[in-house]
Amino acid sequence: MRPTNCRTALTRRALLAAGGALYLEPLAERAASAAGSLKEIHLRAQQSETSVAGPRYPKTPVWSYNHSVPGPEIRVRQGSRLKVTVANALGEPTTVHWHGIRLPNRMDGVPHLTQAPIQQGETFTYEFDVPDAGTYWYHPHQRGFEQVARGLFGALIVEEPEPLAVDRDVVWMLSDWRLTADAKPDGNFGSLHDISHAGRLGNTVTINGEVGEKFAVRAGERIRLRLINAASARIFALEFKDHDPRVIAIDGQPVQPHTPPSGRCILAPGMRMDLLLHMTGRPRNHYSVEDRFYRGREYRLIDLAYTDQVGSSSLFREVTLDPNPLPEPDLSAAQRHDVILGGGMMSGMMAATVHGRRMDIQDMMRRGLAWTINGVAESGHIHEPMVTLKRGSSHILRMQNDTAWWHPMHLHGHVFRVLLRNGEATRFKEWQDTVLLAPRERVEIAFVADNSGDWMFHCHVLDHQAGGMMGTIRVA
Ligand code: C2O
Ligand code: CU
Repeated sequence: MRPTNCRTALTRRALLAAGGALYLEPLAERAASAAGSLKEIHLRAQQSETSVAGPRYPKTPVWSYNHSVPGPEIRVRQGSRLKVTVANALGEPTTVHWHGIRLPNRMDGVPHLTQAPIQQGETFTYEFDVPDAGTYWYHPHQRGFEQVARGLFGALIVEEPEPLAVDRDVVWMLSDWRLTADAKPDGNFGSLHDISHAGRLGNTVTINGEVGEKFAVRAGERIRLRLINAASARIFALEFKDHDPRVIAIDGQPVQPHTPPSGRCILAPGMRMDLLLHMTGRPRNHYSVEDRFYRGREYRLIDLAYTDQVGSSSLFREVTLDPNPLPEPDLSAAQRHDVILGGGMMSGMMAATVHGRRMDIQDMMRRGLAWTINGVAESGHIHEPMVTLKRGSSHILRMQNDTAWWHPMHLHGHVFRVLLRNGEATRFKEWQDTVLLAPRERVEIAFVADNSGDWMFHCHVLDHQAGGMMGTIRVA
C-alpha cells in the first residue's frame, strides 16, 4: 500500500503552474571560514511573510529565521567552530537542532532532553566544532511538525578543505506546504489523520522557499547540486530528464560516485544528497526535473532552462570526495538490537505501552499517538532509553518496518552504515544519519556509539514522530 493523500494533492499543479521564474544565484562569492577558526551567526526565530506560492499569489505568513525562508545559509570550513546565538521571537518556545552534525549532546537542540526550550524573548547560544564536511541543515525540535512546516529550516554547508572544482555549488532546499487558496498555511497542524497516515503532505512544493519555474543553466557547466529535504512529510523521487546526475554524497557523507537506481534521487524528510550534474543539454532547451515518488501524483518540480551560451567546464573527470573521519563499526564484535516499527492505519495494532502502561489504540489515538518502536509509543522528549550502549562499542540495529507506511529513521549524534536491506547487502554500505524504510522493509545499520549522552532516534515524518515513533538511545 503506497500512502497517498488525495485531498491535498489536487491544487499542487495549479499552484506550481502559476509560479514565477526562479534563478538561483551562484554561491562562489560566499567564502567559508577557514579551518580552526570561529564563525558567529545570529538567528532570530520570528513570524514573517514571504512569497511561497509565487507572484500570482499573496505572500504567505511564515515562521522564519531572520525573515527569510529558508533561514540564512550557514557555510563553514570543515574543522572550524560554529557559534550561533538564537533569539526567540516566535511567540512559543523553540530550539534549534543541527541535523547530521556529530556534536556534544548539550548542543543538540532537543527540548527538555538536552536543553530547556528557548522561551519567547530569550536567547540560547549553540557552540560546537564541525568535524565532517558535507551538506547538513538546521531546524527546530520543538513541535517540529508545525514549526518546520511553517518555514523554520536552513542549510548548513560544511566545506571540504579543498573545495570540489565545479562551476557552481548550488543548494536546493526542498519543502512542501499545505496552503489554502489564498496561500495561507492550512491551520490544521498535527491532525490525527496526518499523524496516522503519511504525515502532513502539502499541495505546494518549493525550492529554497519559493515555487520554481526555471533554473537557468549553461551548456557544458558542471554543478554540485546539494539537495536537502526539509519537508515535514513528503518523500521526493527526482528525475532529471535527459541528464545523468551522479550521486557523490548522501546525508553529507561521501559515497562512491554512482547513477542513482532507475535515475531517481530518492530523498525522504531529513535526508540530503549531493549530485554532480553535468549540463549536457542543448542551449535554449528546457529539461524538466520531475518528482515521481507518489504514483499518480507525479509533477514537474522545475525546468533546467539552458541559456544560449555555451561554456566549457573546469572539470573533466569524475570526482570522489574524501571520506569524513567516521569511526568504523567492528561488525564481528557488534551487539545486535531489534528495532520494530509498528502502528499506523492498516497495521492491526491493538495496543501499546504509553508511559509504562498498556493502552488500547482508541485511547492512544485520543492522545494523538499512533506509532510505536518496540511496542512503545513515546510522547514528549524525555523517555526511558530504548537501550543503553557502552561508549566506544559497536552496534547493529536490526530494524523492521511492520507498518504499511514509509519511515525515514534518524539517529542524532552519530552516523551509521546501512548494511542490509531485506537481507541483501547494500551497494556501498552508505554512511547516513537518516535511513528510509519502505513498508514492511527490513534494514540493518551499524555504528560506533562514541558520543556520550541521550540521543533521539525517531521517524523524520514529523507527524509520525509526534505520534509516538521516537525513542532515545543512551550512550554512557
Ligand atoms: Cu532533523 Cu531529530 O531531527
Ligand atoms: Cu514514520
